[in-house]
Amino acid sequence: MADDDDFSFPTLSPPAKVPLTAASTVVDRSNGKQAAAPVPVNQVSASRRPNVGRPGKVPLEKGYSQVEWMMKSRRQPNLTGVEGFQRHLTMEDVRKHNTEEDAWVVVKRKVYNISPYLRFHPGGVAILRTVFGKDASAMFAKYHPWVNIDALLQNCWVGVLDAPTNKEGAPVGG
Ligand code: HEM
Repeated sequence: MADDDDFSFPTLSPPAKVPLTAASTVVDRSNGKQAAAPVPVNQVSASRRPNVGRPGKVPLEKGYSQVEWMMKSRRQPNLTGVEGFQRHLTMEDVRKHNTEEDAWVVVKRKVYNISPYLRFHPGGVAILRTVFGKDASAMFAKYHPWVNIDALLQNCWVGVLDAPTNKEGAPVGG
């Protein structure tokens, strides 16, 4: 019979130490394949660099945040400046509303009075001046197709254009 006093717990050898470098924080799944050389940032096409060549956001004045816009919209259900929904607007009608105090724009056939929104616009007032009284569908899509204009400008929605449109939603000949 074995002597019980000879018993000892087996010891495990300590794990090999890996030096903590940037490479040790990622898992190598390349299977030995050589990665493509990174493309220098100035050679990436402009359309894939979202902030290159874009005017970008402007600082908004105090009291003109997106939250304050939502609160204003809730308080004032009609920000259109007109009574009743206009079903038969033309580009001729829209063109007449081309001042800061009375600025209409068309986005995808819908006509909005953007005057109350101007100072809340994250892209600034200046860029919006370029589309007063015009069809802004292309510019809107160029800068932020993801923006939900229906929700944001619900209370500024004056009416719809009574005109044929092309496949982008812009009025033909407008
Ligand atoms: C008429 C309705 C419009 C609404 C409701 C609107 C709304 C917005 C919103 C919510 C943002 C912030 C987007 C974000 O943070 O992702 C933004 C940014 C901007 N908007 Fe507009 N916009 C309108 C029209 C336009 C038009 C017609 C132009 C150009 C002529 C324009 C130019 C810009 C620019 C340059 C920015 C900054 C984009 C950036 O950060 O790179 N917007 N707009």
